[in-house]
Amino acid sequence: MILVTGGAGFIGSNFVLEWLAQSEETVINLDVLTYAGNRENLRSLDNNRRHIFVQESINNSSVVADLLIQYCPRAVINFAAESHVDRSIHSPEDFIQTNVVGTFHLLEAVRAYWADLQGQVKQEFRFLHVSTDEVYGSLQKDASAFTETHRYAPNSPYSASKAASDHLVRSYHHTYGLPVLTTNCSNNYGPYHFPEKLIPLMIVNALAGKPLPIYGDGQQIRDWLYVKDHCSAIRRVLEAGRVGEVYNIGGWNEKPNIDIVHTICSILDESRPRSDGQSYREQIITVADRPGHDRRYAIDASKIERELGWKPAETFDTGIRKTVNWYLENQKWVANVQSGAYRSWVEKNYSERST
Ligand code: NAD
Ligand code: DAU
Repeated sequence: MILVTGGAGFIGSNFVLEWLAQSEETVINLDVLTYAGNRENLRSLDNNRRHIFVQESINNSSVVADLLIQYCPRAVINFAAESHVDRSIHSPEDFIQTNVVGTFHLLEAVRAYWADLQGQVKQEFRFLHVSTDEVYGSLQKDASAFTETHRYAPNSPYSASKAASDHLVRSYHHTYGLPVLTTNCSNNYGPYHFPEKLIPLMIVNALAGKPLPIYGDGQQIRDWLYVKDHCSAIRRVLEAGRVGEVYNIGGWNEKPNIDIVHTICSILDESRPRSDGQSYREQIITVADRPGHDRRYAIDASKIERELGWKPAETFDTGIRKTVNWYLENQKWVANVQSGAYRSWVEKNYSERST
């Protein structure tokens, strides 16, 4: 079996669902259930005996140690994190506690477990750390995409905390020999994406007749990957990645934010036209920029393609249509996540931004 942390969040829940659909192995899913963790994402697994959910923090080393001894997983895949850049600007401490201190505690528990393993089981054990392209900082317009050797230059408390966690993971390999793998992925989108992030926020706001807030000039570039492609890349790295190596994962899909929002509006204009006959683009507004906003990210995903034969299955066009359809078909999920806490976050983040 495998142990997944943060498996009730956006990418983690997609990963767990896909894993159980494609493999015979059991998943122990350790998630403390912050605002971003949602058991609804895993509802279809309610009667699945191969899914063992444990509501606990990666900071609780003794619980993690007990779980490792009890279940003897062959791998740990670490998704657990605070993941939203804007929240890291408002409350950086949570990011240090989870992404830095939490990863440290998790590594300590895993190191003790791995040290006591023997023979082939020890040799085949893997700790896979899921990280982000944001650790590399911001790219100039014409600069080459991030390779695995690009220097780290994180610019937000979120990316700095992820960079710190990557360094800890690296050090546990070099110092203690822990068999680690690290993946640095670009922006994901797809089902179960919490509507504080650009793509789900725009779909949800458009349908609710609310403004579509573009930070600054909307020309910031992100490199978008459909979440199920990220999950297939992680499975591939786990299966065949070289111990101690880093693999960048991306979709070769660089797009300015404003183009993303226009695409979403066009799909909705076709599939769910506004009752007044106007385009959803009428709802776009410009708001104050994110402090320290990175201008461009781009992933060079040649290494994972060359060494492991991985390529994304979706283009942006196919992935974004699937995503918009998922939100149209899952309005109940959307309504459930828009709790009081969600509304106060939206109020906090957007009321301070003058239009
Ligand atoms: P998310 O915010 O949707 O989910 C994070 C999950 O971690 C939640 O279920 C939350 O409850 C859980 N969690 C938080 N603190 C925890 C703790 N102390 N102990 C146990 N569980 C805890 O995040 P996501 O978008 O699914 O991202 C998952 C991982 O992938 C993160 O490490 C993130 O840095 C990385 N990543 C995300 C993207 C992206 O575009 N979303 C891209 C590249 C890398
Ligand atoms: O690059 C990978 C990263 O992608 C992950 O590590 C992070 O966990 C994930 O949240 C994401 O970070 P971003 O900051 O790029 O994603 P977000 O969806 O918050 O913003 C995408 C872009 O859209 C960014 O340039 C900011 C802009 N934006 C975002 C929001 C929420 C807007 O213009 N308006 C908005 O309301």
